[in-house]
Order: sequence, then C-alpha cells, then structure tokens
Amino acid sequence: MNETWEELKAECLACRKCELCETRTNVVFGGGRKDAEVLFIGEGPGEQEDLRGEPFVGRAGQLLDKMLLAVGLDRTMVYIANIVKCRPPQNRDPKPEEQEQCIDWLRSQVKIMRPKIIVCLGRISGMRLIKPDLRIMKEHGQWVERGGIYMMATLHPAALLRNPTQKPEAFKDYLSLREKIREICETTKI
Ligand code: URA
Repeated sequence: MNETWEELKAECLACRKCELCETRTNVVFGGGRKDAEVLFIGEGPGEQEDLRGEPFVGRAGQLLDKMLLAVGLDRTMVYIANIVKCRPPQNRDPKPEEQEQCIDWLRSQVKIMRPKIIVCLGRISGMRLIKPDLRIMKEHGQWVERGGIYMMATLHPAALLRNPTQKPEAFKDYLSLREKIREICETTKI
C-alpha cells in the first residue's frame, strides 16, 4: 500500500494493537525532518515524552541534543523515533510482544523516509534492528549495511547519564557518524 506520511501518522496515533494504549497519554510517532537522511531510533517514550508526544524531550533527550550539536547536527536535520511508540509503565523495557506489535509502524516510516543511515540508541533498539545478540558495550560504533542503509548502535543517552565516564567512548560513535554522513549523505551538510 502506498500510504502517505500523514495517513500513516493518523493511523498510528489511533493505534490500539497492544496494552500500552491503555496507559499512554500520547502516542509518540517521532519528530524531526520527514525526509531526513539520518534516523535515530530509541527504545520507547519515557514520562516526559508521553506527556508531550515528542521523542527524547527529557534529560536523556537533552544529552542527545548536546551530542548532536557537538558534531554539527540538530533535530531539524534528522528524524528521531522509537521501537515502541507508547510509554511502557514505570519505564520498564518494552515486552517482545509489544515490540512485535509496534515495529510495523517504524518499518512503514522507514519505507517512506528511505534514510541512508540508522543509528540505534541503546541495546534494545540495536538488538531489535541490527542483531538479536548484539553486545552493546563491545559492538557500539560498528557499521553494518542492510539493504543500502548503513546502521550502527551507540550507547543510550540515559545509560550515559547513569555512567558519565562512558561519554567519551560514546562520543567516538558520533564522530564516526559525522564521517559517514560526509561520505554518503547528499542533503545533510555538516
Ligand atoms: N528514551 C528513549 O529510548 N526514547 C525516548 O523517546 C526517550 C527516552
């Protein structure tokens, strides 16, 4: 089906495919530039994201903004989404069945957007999108190519808030991202 972005979004905002719809305030469809070449994918909305309907607007989001800025990026140049679009209660990990129910929304977004690069923010996103046995501390920053899309996982900004000593290591991934953007992107100028 050749759905438009707006049609997809309207359908997604009314989604009741899993139990997370019972406790959500807002569906967090994603935010940023619809025709972005670079797509960041986190795990799922937290409290602030649920209240505002926007991804990464809490403390982890502020750190993400800083890391982006440090390599010449901001939210108007990329798109940010999550594996699940509704907040898991108490910020627990999204259950495999919730991820399964939700992932088609993201697949449809990717189909329409056709990003050149996907950055998985954290273990859950990396395991879901890159490989189920991903070891985030060992394999973050490593690029893989899938169907013409370059993908890597980096440490989740919330994990960096808990372990600030890992920030320099994570920042190397953002430098590598900048290189990859310069190498393969056409409209993202940094
Ligand atoms: N953490 C995530 O994984 N996603 C958000 O949108 C916010 C925090």
